[in-house]
Amino acid sequence: MKNSPDFIYGTAWKEDKTKSLVLLALRKGFLGIDTANQRKHYNESAVGEAISEFLSKTNGSRKRLFLQTKFTHIGGQDQRLPYEPDAPVSEQVQQSFVNSLKHLRRDFIDSYILHGPSIGVGLSEEDWKAWAAMESLFDNGKVKALGISNISLEQLRLLMKGARIRPKFVQNRCFASRKWDRDIRIFCQKNNLTYQGFSLLTANHKIVQSSFLKQIAQQYQRTPSQIIFRFAYQLGIIPLTGTSNATHMADDLEIRDFSLNEDDIRKIEENTIY
Ligand SMILES: NC(=O)c1ccc[n+]([C@@H]2O[C@H](COP(=O)([O-])OP(=O)(O)OC[C@H]3O[C@@H](n4cnc5c(N)ncnc54)[C@H](OP(=O)(O)O)[C@@H]3O)[C@@H](O)[C@H]2O)c1
Repeated sequence: MKNSPDFIYGTAWKEDKTKSLVLLALRKGFLGIDTANQRKHYNESAVGEAISEFLSKTNGSRKRLFLQTKFTHIGGQDQRLPYEPDAPVSEQVQQSFVNSLKHLRRDFIDSYILHGPSIGVGLSEEDWKAWAAMESLFDNGKVKALGISNISLEQLRLLMKGARIRPKFVQNRCFASRKWDRDIRIFCQKNNLTYQGFSLLTANHKIVQSSFLKQIAQQYQRTPSQIIFRFAYQLGIIPLTGTSNATHMADDLEIRDFSLNEDDIRKIEENTIY
């Protein structure tokens, strides 16, 4: 997982607390930050304010941080669009990206993600045009890697086949009921893609709260959330957390300090509490 952080702090749904929470996360030790130019769920300019303040106050190096943002098709936006609604999608990508750089106060982004295909099955002409515009940003050195989110295996295969610049990251909601997105994870491993998992806790309430997991947590003297994040990490997933709680931030980063044995990994992966 070279050139990728071991844990990513996600900035969705924080509204006017975005700046203070991102600052807190950076101070706690998160090196990866995920956002999107999608005002409906993210406050990207507040993320930029936090990063600037953190770097100036700590004399920190931008190079240590991993900044990731997204282009969101019009269907995923509300009325606060980061581009002209009638512009061709390739221009919308350009406009959205220029705005992201302004919001984040940076001149490059480590990872630029297509927030999701515009259709449920296959990839549309709009998706391919958006991807081509993202490839141009990569060519110009403005983004260091491309990624795709909310994607099925079938769509990922299509993208890998047709892309001139292939994605490096896949960011998906990770359901225990799909064996923690097993098919896509395996595909990623085989194709040198890094899988980022979100909703690891919120999409999997039953297992997170189960006595089965509590028992494993007790055995390792960790919390059930720490077990899930560590489990995900050992499966090859870069976990995302969007916690608003300082103790949880510290807990989450502590997954660096222990590991689960193979037997427990298999037990969790094969478990059917969902
Ligand atoms: N690509 C996409 O379409 C997409 C979609 C959704 C999310 N994301 C990304 O993923 C990030 C994370 O989102 P998420 O869906 O995984 O949910 P989340 O925002 O991280 O929510 C986690 C929930 O679990 C609770 N929690 C309890 N113990 C925790 C612990 N130890 N660590 C962390 N949380 C704990 C949190 O409460 P406390 O706040 O009290 O800890 C919170 O209510 C987002 O901010 C966003 O960047 C991307």
